Amino acid sequence: MTINLDWENLGFNYMELPYRYEAHYKDGAWDEGGLVQGNQLSLNIGSPALHYGQSAFEGLKAYRTKSGAIQLFRPDQNAARLADSAAKLLMPAVAVDQFLDAVRQVVAANAEYVPPYGTGATLYLRPLLLGVGPNIGVAPAKEYLFTVFAMPVGAYYKGGMVPTKFMVAETFDRAAHFGTGQSKVGGNYAASLQAGKYAHEHGYGDAIYLDPIEHRYIEEVGSANFFGITKDGSKFVTPKSPSILPSITRRSLMTLAQTACGLEAEETRIPIDGLGDLSEAGACGTAAVITPIQSITYQGNVHQFGDGGIGPVTQKLYDTLVGIQNGDVEGPAGWIMTVQA
Ligand code: PLP
Ligand code: COI
Repeated sequence: MTINLDWENLGFNYMELPYRYEAHYKDGAWDEGGLVQGNQLSLNIGSPALHYGQSAFEGLKAYRTKSGAIQLFRPDQNAARLADSAAKLLMPAVAVDQFLDAVRQVVAANAEYVPPYGTGATLYLRPLLLGVGPNIGVAPAKEYLFTVFAMPVGAYYKGGMVPTKFMVAETFDRAAHFGTGQSKVGGNYAASLQAGKYAHEHGYGDAIYLDPIEHRYIEEVGSANFFGITKDGSKFVTPKSPSILPSITRRSLMTLAQTACGLEAEETRIPIDGLGDLSEAGACGTAAVITPIQSITYQGNVHQFGDGGIGPVTQKLYDTLVGIQNGDVEGPAGWIMTVQA
């Protein structure tokens, strides 16, 4: 059973649902945690999450299948990445089992908000880990809060699977090589606001970052990873860099490029002046899913991929990925976790 919403026209917007999960860490241990109501947090004003950015998050989705069942896509990978982000910011990890239990509880409790099959909408889950409590010096918190909240969403980039224009952020870096770029932490996104604003104001879907050392190689998109298909049609390529988020969608596409498209999949440095070697390009992520890149503007030049439409490999990858997520296509073992609602 679902409630009545305009599922096809949701966009990627905040909505408060009846239930979220909350757990607390104090004196060296997490409590059991459980469902709570209301989306206001009451935090000590000295919380390091507020001052010093000791905060990490995740993003994953719950999907309604044709039969009405609800399933998650590789949530164990989100649990593992949150633990990596936590380690980077000296925060205690949330155990994989507690993470998965929290996600399942939130989905089940808000099951009527999991959008119907075939609408293109999904339930987006946002796990959030914060350093809290009374502090003022720059040091890790002694207490932590872990919460998972959710909302139904549509496409992140306008139109979803629609060719979209991107621009290179020529005067902005997202993250440094020895910094926090590999972690899903709040500070990376604060650092991306200016370039994102500039890109949106100039009619682009988002900014694409270059490596912070030479400004020569593609890093990633503000909220998604980058991939391309080589002109000879043999390879799925995606940037190799120590300062990009290890995207679960991209990892999945590397597998599907091989198994469903018969391509080689390679992490490699992709020079911004080598776009002519690619026939197709895309942005990929949980929120972005796959957004085909129509063109990239760099140093005043517009580089268009192919005829500016959706390339055949991008379409095949999209159909396979979304097919698995929606339960229409059998995916590799372990990718899908069902939720009993
Ligand atoms: N890169 C950035 C900066 C992101 O925010 C995201 C979104 O999570 C991704 C890449 C894609 O990662 P994933 O596929 O795990 O959602
Ligand atoms: C996601 O794809 O889950 C993201 O976190 C991207 C963005 C909304 C920050």
